[in-house]
Amino acid sequence: MAVESNQTSDQEMANSQPEQQELKRKKRIRLAIYIAVFLVFQIIVITVLSLTVLKVKSPKVRLGALNVQNLTAAPAMPSFDVTFATQIRIKNTNFGRYKFDASTIKFDYDGATVGQVSIPKGKAGMWSTKKIDVTVNLSTKGLPSSKNSSLRTELSTGVLRLMSEARVKGKVELMMVMKKNKSAKMDCTLEVNLSTKKIQYLKCE
Ligand SMILES: *[C@@H]1O[C@H](CO)[C@@H](O)[C@H](O)[C@H]1NC(C)=O
Ligand SMILES: *[C@@H]1O[C@H](CO)[C@@H](O)[C@H](O)[C@H]1NC(C)=O
Ligand SMILES: *[C@@H]1O[C@H](CO)[C@@H](O)[C@H](O)[C@H]1NC(C)=O
Ligand SMILES: *[C@@H]1O[C@H](CO)[C@@H](O)[C@H](O)[C@H]1NC(C)=O
Ligand SMILES: *[C@@H]1O[C@H](CO)[C@@H](O)[C@H](O)[C@H]1NC(C)=O
Repeated sequence: MAVESNQTSDQEMANSQPEQQELKRKKRIRLAIYIAVFLVFQIIVITVLSLTVLKVKSPKVRLGALNVQNLTAAPAMPSFDVTFATQIRIKNTNFGRYKFDASTIKFDYDGATVGQVSIPKGKAGMWSTKKIDVTVNLSTKGLPSSKNSSLRTELSTGVLRLMSEARVKGKVELMMVMKKNKSAKMDCTLEVNLSTKKIQYLKCE
């Protein structure tokens, strides 16, 4: 009996050795799988983050609707004076606020500046648009005489075509720590209908 019992336990010992090794091997494989899954998950998370939250997009400067308050145009002179109200919009689509420096929006007729309006230093919160209401005066007072003939022709057509451009410099702050310089740009073309005294076309890029 005693011998038999000894034999059994010896056999168990002999059997359990490879069983335990098999168990350890399975554990190691499982651990390796966990690590691999974790790494893949990390890579996915980092990729998604860098494509979304951490991706810094350039903010945009745009003009809202232009309401002409006063307009006088004299093709014979030639000259024009325009006063209008509009809204400057600085749109920030980043996961963090945009702090921008003071700058100006220029209005040009045929490459010559006929007016400008200043954008004060400020900030646009994350995913939001900073709106600034302004009144703009445009005048041919400082226009060089070389533009006279083209302006005379243009005013007699009944439509005045102007360009407007702005470059706003600033920083996007991600999660309060990462900062990245980003400038916001605007290039607009607008057309004033001299008989209706309205902006009949406005396109910004
Ligand atoms: C519009 O402009 C004309 C000429 O500059 C001026 O006499 C008139 O007072 C202005 N009107 C308003 C409402 O600003
Ligand atoms: C625009 O012109 C009007 C009158 O000519 C003046 O009262 C007003 O202050 C001017 N606005 C700006 C922003 O220069
Ligand atoms: C151009 O037009 C302005 C008025 O807008 C006038 O004072 C100036 O003398 C003109 N110059 C020429 C060369 O015609
Ligand atoms: C100015 O606007 C009126 C009314 O919309 C339109 O009939 C006219 O053709 C416009 N003038 C020009 C030169 O486009
Ligand atoms: C970011 O802009 C500031 C001025 O706004 C400038 O001093 C700084 O050198 C710029 N940094 C980079 C990395 O371009």
